[in-house]
Amino acid sequence: MSALENPIDILLLGSGGREHALAVKLAASPHCGALYIAPGNGGTLAVGENVALDANDPVAVADFARETGCGLVVIGPEAPLVAGVADAVREAGIPCFGPGAEGAQMEGSKLFSKQLMDRAGIPTAAYGSFTDEVSALAYVREQGAPLVVKADGLAAGKGVIVATELEQAEEAVRECFDGAFGEAGNTVVIEEMLVGPECSLLAFTDGVTVRPMATSQDHKRALEGDKGPNTGGMGVYSPVPIVTDEEHAAMCAVMDQTVAQLRAEGIDYRGCLYGGFMLTANGPKVLEFNARFGDPETQVILPRLENDLVEVMLACAEQHLDEIELSWRDEWAVSVVLTSAGYPGSYEKGKVITGIEDAEAMENVTVYHAGTAMTDEGELVTAGGRVINVTALGETFEAARDLSYAACEEIQFEGKTLRHDIGLRALRGRAGWDA
Ligand code: AMP
Ligand code: GLY
Repeated sequence: MSALENPIDILLLGSGGREHALAVKLAASPHCGALYIAPGNGGTLAVGENVALDANDPVAVADFARETGCGLVVIGPEAPLVAGVADAVREAGIPCFGPGAEGAQMEGSKLFSKQLMDRAGIPTAAYGSFTDEVSALAYVREQGAPLVVKADGLAAGKGVIVATELEQAEEAVRECFDGAFGEAGNTVVIEEMLVGPECSLLAFTDGVTVRPMATSQDHKRALEGDKGPNTGGMGVYSPVPIVTDEEHAAMCAVMDQTVAQLRAEGIDYRGCLYGGFMLTANGPKVLEFNARFGDPETQVILPRLENDLVEVMLACAEQHLDEIELSWRDEWAVSVVLTSAGYPGSYEKGKVITGIEDAEAMENVTVYHAGTAMTDEGELVTAGGRVINVTALGETFEAARDLSYAACEEIQFEGKTLRHDIGLRALRGRAGWDA
């Protein structure tokens, strides 16, 4: 591994809890020199240097990386990927962790990923796709409820409507074509509703070799009992206890098949491919792909990863991932998200946060910042909807869960809100899934 004789400087793009977790793991590597985070948050300040840079501007990012002599650029969120930032960085001769604009279509266009799955014979929900309201509504009436209506493009996690009634599905179609999701809704994908537990499987890939990570499961709904609006994620655990060996093997095969298909179609995908699966009675089926690490999935996956993250990411970027085997800690990980009251609707910012040191003083607890900022007076305040992720490791799922909740008690800010049932359903086991 020639590139690793000396530490390399690294530029990481993004500002969420995912990026704090990536920053902590990158900074822990002896191969990491300077670590720049653009724009970063109140937590990334402690492990690197936050820089004001438009992460979605390919030229600005490539210029910054070149001028500072970075040896690796790591892209956290989807928007820079879809904007072609990875292409610009690679054109500048700098290794980049993250697919180019073409590969990012796996997330940037639901239709692109559905069509690719069709060509590869990958199990996914049956669907139709439409560019006009009249034919979409005709299809909805022909199929009948339940149906899932999806805006094709990036819609900040809001473009998916699971409609149990026909009227809901019709309303969702009208919303998409009325511009509720901007250009993302110009094309609408309408899917069969799948049922079962969900499970995410992320994988490192260099475009040829695929190394699956540990399984994880997010909780997207805002309220306990999986009620209320969808959010960016309220809590997560890893691994997923209810997955059978057979299902795990099937999901790994899908990740392999997907990268092979991308490659066969001339797409050199280097980075993280995120597979979101529904574990149906007929085996795992793909709900979606993301072209990046999950947030908050990263906050439970990386603390369990024993490898040096700089080595793994460089191996993806420079296409020698075949030289690396991943290894995982045996402990379970649970992460609970502390949010600002009102999220995912409107919420207040600028609330002083206390108690993080007390939480972190607890053994096996790590606090990742998401929507936090440091004021000029050096006070840590809330600056977003999802504020803090409290990750705990434990010998058992239950121990990790209890520890995470105990650590959550230590952290205070006005309007602090959390779900108290993260992981509860999985703890009851597969038999009790729908109980
Ligand atoms: P997506 O962004 O495509 O993963 O969709 C967000 C969420 O919507 C998923 O995590 C599922 O809970 C749900 N969902 C998406 N597609 C389907 C489907 N075909 N059947 C049932 N639920 C779905
Ligand atoms: N937690 C879901 C996502 O990152 O897309």
